[in-house]
Amino acid sequence: MTKRKILITSALPYANGPTHLGHLLEYIQTDIWARFQKMQGHEAYYVCADDAHGTPIMLNAQKQGITPEQMVENVSIERQRDFTDFHIEFDNYHSTHSAENKELSEMIYNRLNDGGYIKKRTISQLFDPEKSIFLPDRFVTGTCPSCKAENQNGDSCDACGATYSPTELLNPRSAMSGAKPVLKDSEHFFFDLPAFEHMLKSWLHSGSIQQEMANKLDEWFAEGLQEWDISRDAPYFGFEIPNAPGKYFYVWLDAPIGYMASFKNLCEKKNINFDEFWDKDSNAELYHFIGKDIIYFHSLFWPAMLDGASLRKPTNIFAHGFITVNGAKMSKSKGTFIKARTYLDHLDPEYLRYYYAAKLNSGITDLDINLDDFAQRVNSDLVGKVVNIASRCAGFISKRFEGKLSNTVAEPALFAEFSSQASNIANLFESREYSRAIREIMALADKANQYIDGAAPWVLVKNEETQQQAHDVCSMGLNLFKVIMTYLKPVLPNMANNVEAFLGCALEWNTVQTPLTCHTISTFKALMQRVDMDKVNLMLEESKESMNSSIKPDPTSPLAKEPIAAEIEFNDFAKIDLRIALIAKAEHVEGAEKLLKLTLDLGGETRQVFSGIKAAYKPEDLEGKLTVMVANLKPRKMRFGMSEGMVLAAGPGDNEIYLLDPHSGAKPGMRVM
Ligand code: MSP
Ligand code: ZN
Repeated sequence: MTKRKILITSALPYANGPTHLGHLLEYIQTDIWARFQKMQGHEAYYVCADDAHGTPIMLNAQKQGITPEQMVENVSIERQRDFTDFHIEFDNYHSTHSAENKELSEMIYNRLNDGGYIKKRTISQLFDPEKSIFLPDRFVTGTCPSCKAENQNGDSCDACGATYSPTELLNPRSAMSGAKPVLKDSEHFFFDLPAFEHMLKSWLHSGSIQQEMANKLDEWFAEGLQEWDISRDAPYFGFEIPNAPGKYFYVWLDAPIGYMASFKNLCEKKNINFDEFWDKDSNAELYHFIGKDIIYFHSLFWPAMLDGASLRKPTNIFAHGFITVNGAKMSKSKGTFIKARTYLDHLDPEYLRYYYAAKLNSGITDLDINLDDFAQRVNSDLVGKVVNIASRCAGFISKRFEGKLSNTVAEPALFAEFSSQASNIANLFESREYSRAIREIMALADKANQYIDGAAPWVLVKNEETQQQAHDVCSMGLNLFKVIMTYLKPVLPNMANNVEAFLGCALEWNTVQTPLTCHTISTFKALMQRVDMDKVNLMLEESKESMNSSIKPDPTSPLAKEPIAAEIEFNDFAKIDLRIALIAKAEHVEGAEKLLKLTLDLGGETRQVFSGIKAAYKPEDLEGKLTVMVANLKPRKMRFGMSEGMVLAAGPGDNEIYLLDPHSGAKPGMRVM
């Protein structure tokens, strides 16, 4: 086997908030792959870093009254503790706010500039005159230009789903100060992405890129590539652009360069040849594990930047889907927005590593954590099958046979069946088909248990003349257990360590063929506890609490000082005709990101209403339910058709929207007052 040189990365987490179970999907997926590659004997490195730059991080630090450097440092300490406790083992964890990253970013920028790939032009943007800062889209709020809903974001409307540029908002406000933004000109630097279209197309079709990613990219090519704005004006937390005082690299320019910076930092510590991995003609392999939300940056901008700077491009980019909990997007109010630390306070990290592995494949579909299924899966597979093999055999070896395995392999054919799976299972790990690997491994665990059931060593030990047989069977069982735990080692590194101590041997891929005979083992200690649903529920409770305390209104926000709403006369209220409505039909709307189309029955009259509740409800769950609607709202023409009224709902938006739900007895058409 040839020894490969492999550099592996996970996306660099923003140094701006706690690690949660969604992040962990990626770091666990990557860690399993990196550990697997190392077990194969390859020269593999897994590096990561904090993504430290950008406006949100700068403002967050300001709010806390500390420097961004200090905040990034604080978050990084917590983050690395989370990773360590989940057994995520980086060869290096660095920061994009580092000397290496500054040097590499300048080097790449200068090469792009020399190559003629940096264009300058003046653009006009909203500017907060009170804070003296240009406003990113998400820091502008105002009235939707198409449906006139108030308090909408700078890029899209939650009420009608329209998308627009922040300059189109009516009555715009800065979310930072509440001031009315003004338009201001500034010179920006653009990266000439369209110049790389040809290169990108051939790069993307040369490798074994995921099908879903290829489809997305084809869409982007069809729409036409755009020049990419890579500069931001001061004040900005980032690196100043060479020879451009007051202009900073946009965070997404130096973020992927952070992969190189972290590796460079490792090379300096460990005397590794950096250029061997990054030269244009490098024969090392480079893989980026990322979430599906950041494909654009990794599959277009990043390879184009590398190519323009005469560096090697990634061998492949592996995107994964998003986590949902109990079938819905993680929600702060439901307690399913679970932080890494809250999980660790209640549950064993290897439960989650196993559960993710048992569900992950090489695609980008979303992955649901169903907590009942989680408990059931871990208990039945790991405790009920795998650990059970060892616990049924180990006691006899210690008590009856002086802790020593017998000198023969009782069933050579069965052992060969187990060890000959090594290359099949290796191929499944290599191609990131973890769930299939786990299925194969659990089939082996079933077989091992069947073997022990059939041989019944607990009966054999009772007779003097079957002592030897009992010894052979228990030794055989432990040898099968060793093979299984070797295959599981990338997924369950901590349990594998404990098994190594128990068996007194290293679990290595290239020694699965070799059974242990005449070998002394240590006394068996419980390797894993069952998942306790009470602890799972405690974790959910605590997640609710920790979130409620962290979403208190920000006292420095201009909105916090105002009364809940301006007073109105009763007559104003009486103008609104509220009615009980039966949701007769609920449907997705082709092309609408946030809307559902509802057909409402008012007891004789039918209305069609578009409502921005798609993230919160599945259409089929709404049909047949009663709710409350504004029945005398003037019909409005929307992009997708007429909307004849409005349903009432509460909540901050996105997946946290709650439709009003009348008490039983209410009938369609009844007036609400
Ligand atoms: N800082 C950027 C990445 C820069 S890479 C040069 C970023 N950071 S992040 O903290 O928002 O996300 C880090 C990784 O976690 C991303 O790959 C993202 O897709 C992934 N996930 C964040 N939330 C997730 C889920 N709910 N589910 C699965 N993965 C998720 O993006
Ligand atoms: Zn709107």
